[in-house]
Amino acid sequence: MMAKTIFITGGAGFIGSHVVRLFVNKYPDYKIVNVDVLTYAGNLENLTDVCDAPNYVFEKVDIVDFQAINKLFEKYRPDGIIHLAAESHVDRSITNPFAFIHTNVMGTCNLLHAAKEAWKNNMEGKLFYHVSTDEVYGALECDGTLFTETTRYDPHSPYSASKASSDHFVRAYHDTFGLPIVISNCSNNYGANQFPEKLIPLAINNIKNKRPIPIYGKGENIRDWLYVNDHASAIDIIFHKGKNGETYNIGGNNEWTNIDLIHTLCAIMDKKLGRRAGESAELITFVKDRAGHDLRYAIDSSKIQKELGWHPSLQFEEGLEKTVDWYLANETWVNHITSGSYQKYYEQQYNQR
Ligand code: NAD
Ligand code: TYD
Repeated sequence: MMAKTIFITGGAGFIGSHVVRLFVNKYPDYKIVNVDVLTYAGNLENLTDVCDAPNYVFEKVDIVDFQAINKLFEKYRPDGIIHLAAESHVDRSITNPFAFIHTNVMGTCNLLHAAKEAWKNNMEGKLFYHVSTDEVYGALECDGTLFTETTRYDPHSPYSASKASSDHFVRAYHDTFGLPIVISNCSNNYGANQFPEKLIPLAINNIKNKRPIPIYGKGENIRDWLYVNDHASAIDIIFHKGKNGETYNIGGNNEWTNIDLIHTLCAIMDKKLGRRAGESAELITFVKDRAGHDLRYAIDSSKIQKELGWHPSLQFEEGLEKTVDWYLANETWVNHITSGSYQKYYEQQYNQR
C-alpha cells in the first residue's frame, strides 16, 4: 500500500521533471503519477533515471480533456496534485495566445473540477497545489520594490494573463467549494533540462555553436533567477508544510539585467571552451524588443523563508556554472531536441511495455 498517490502534471517538462525526480527518490512510499501530454516542451528523456522506479507511473494525458482527467482520478484516486502542466514561453504566447488559454485556463479548471468531484465527500488530507509565476504581478520599476504575496495582479502578456486567470480559478474553487489548495508564484528558473528556447539555454547553445546571441531591446530588463533544484525543494516544502488557502512567493533574491547575465555566461563559456576572454561576448546581437516586454521582476520570498524555513541553496555564478557544465556534458540531450528525435522516445519506450 502506498502512503499517498500524487499527480504531478507537466512532469516531463523542465521544472516538472526535477519535481518528479525529487519526489520519486525522496518518498519511496508515495506513488508518483506523471500526467503529461508531451507537447514540444515535454521530454521523457528528462526522466530516464527514474522511469523504472517502482513508485513512478507515466500517463500521457491532455489536461484539456476532461473525460480523460476524470478517468485518471477514478483509476488512481490521488490524494494530492502538484500542477505544473502549462504552456510556459512568453514569446509563443504572443504568436498563439489560444494554446495558453486552452491549457493554462481550461486545463487548470478541468483538474480543479475533477479534484472537487473526486474529493467532495472527504477533503481531509487532500491538496491541490498550483505552481504559478511571479509574472502575474506585472512589471516593477527599477526602484528596489519587490513582489509580495499581496501585490495586485497586473499581467501583461497572454502567458501571464492565462496564469493569473488560473490562479483566480484555484482560489475560487477554494472559496466556493472548500477545495484545499496552495499556490506558489516563482521567479525565473534556470538549470539542467530547460528547453533551449528560453534565454539561458538558448544562449549556451548559441555560444557553443558560435551563433549570434539575440538580446531583446537594450538588454536592460531585469529578472530574478532561481536554480531549478531550489524551486523543486520549495515545492516539496510547500506541498508538505504549506497552509491551506495560502500563497507563497519563491525567488532567488538574485536580480540581473539580461545583458549582465549574458556577459557573465559568456565569460564562463570562454573558460570552459578554452576560448580567448571576450570571444563569446562578440556574439551578442541586439534585436527587436519583445512586445509588451516587462521591465523588471523581483520577488520578496520572506514569507516562505520565515514560515516554512526554505532558503535558496546556491549563489548564481555557481548555479550558472553547474548549468553550463550540464549542457556541455549532455550534448546528446540537446541534439535530440534540435533534431526532434526526443518526440519519438515515448513511442519507442512505452509501446514496448
Ligand atoms: P515547460 O514548458 O518546460 O513544461 C511544461 C510541461 O507541461 C511539458 O512537459 C508539457 O508537455 C506539459 N503540458 C503542456 N500542455 C499540457 C497539457 N495540455 N496537458 C498535459 N501536459 C501538458 O514548463 P516549465 O518551465 O517547466 O514550467 C512549469 C510550470 O512552472 C508552469 O506552470 C509555469 O507557468 C511555472 N513556472 C515556470 C517558471 C520558469 O522559469 N520556467 C517560473 C515560475 C513558474
Ligand atoms: P525568458 O527566458 O523567455 O523568460 P521570461 O520571458 O519568462 O522572463 O526570457 C528571460 C529574459 O530574456 C526576458 O527579459 C526576455 C529576454 N530574452 C532575450 O533577450 N532574448 C531571447 O532570445 C530570449 C528567449 C529572452
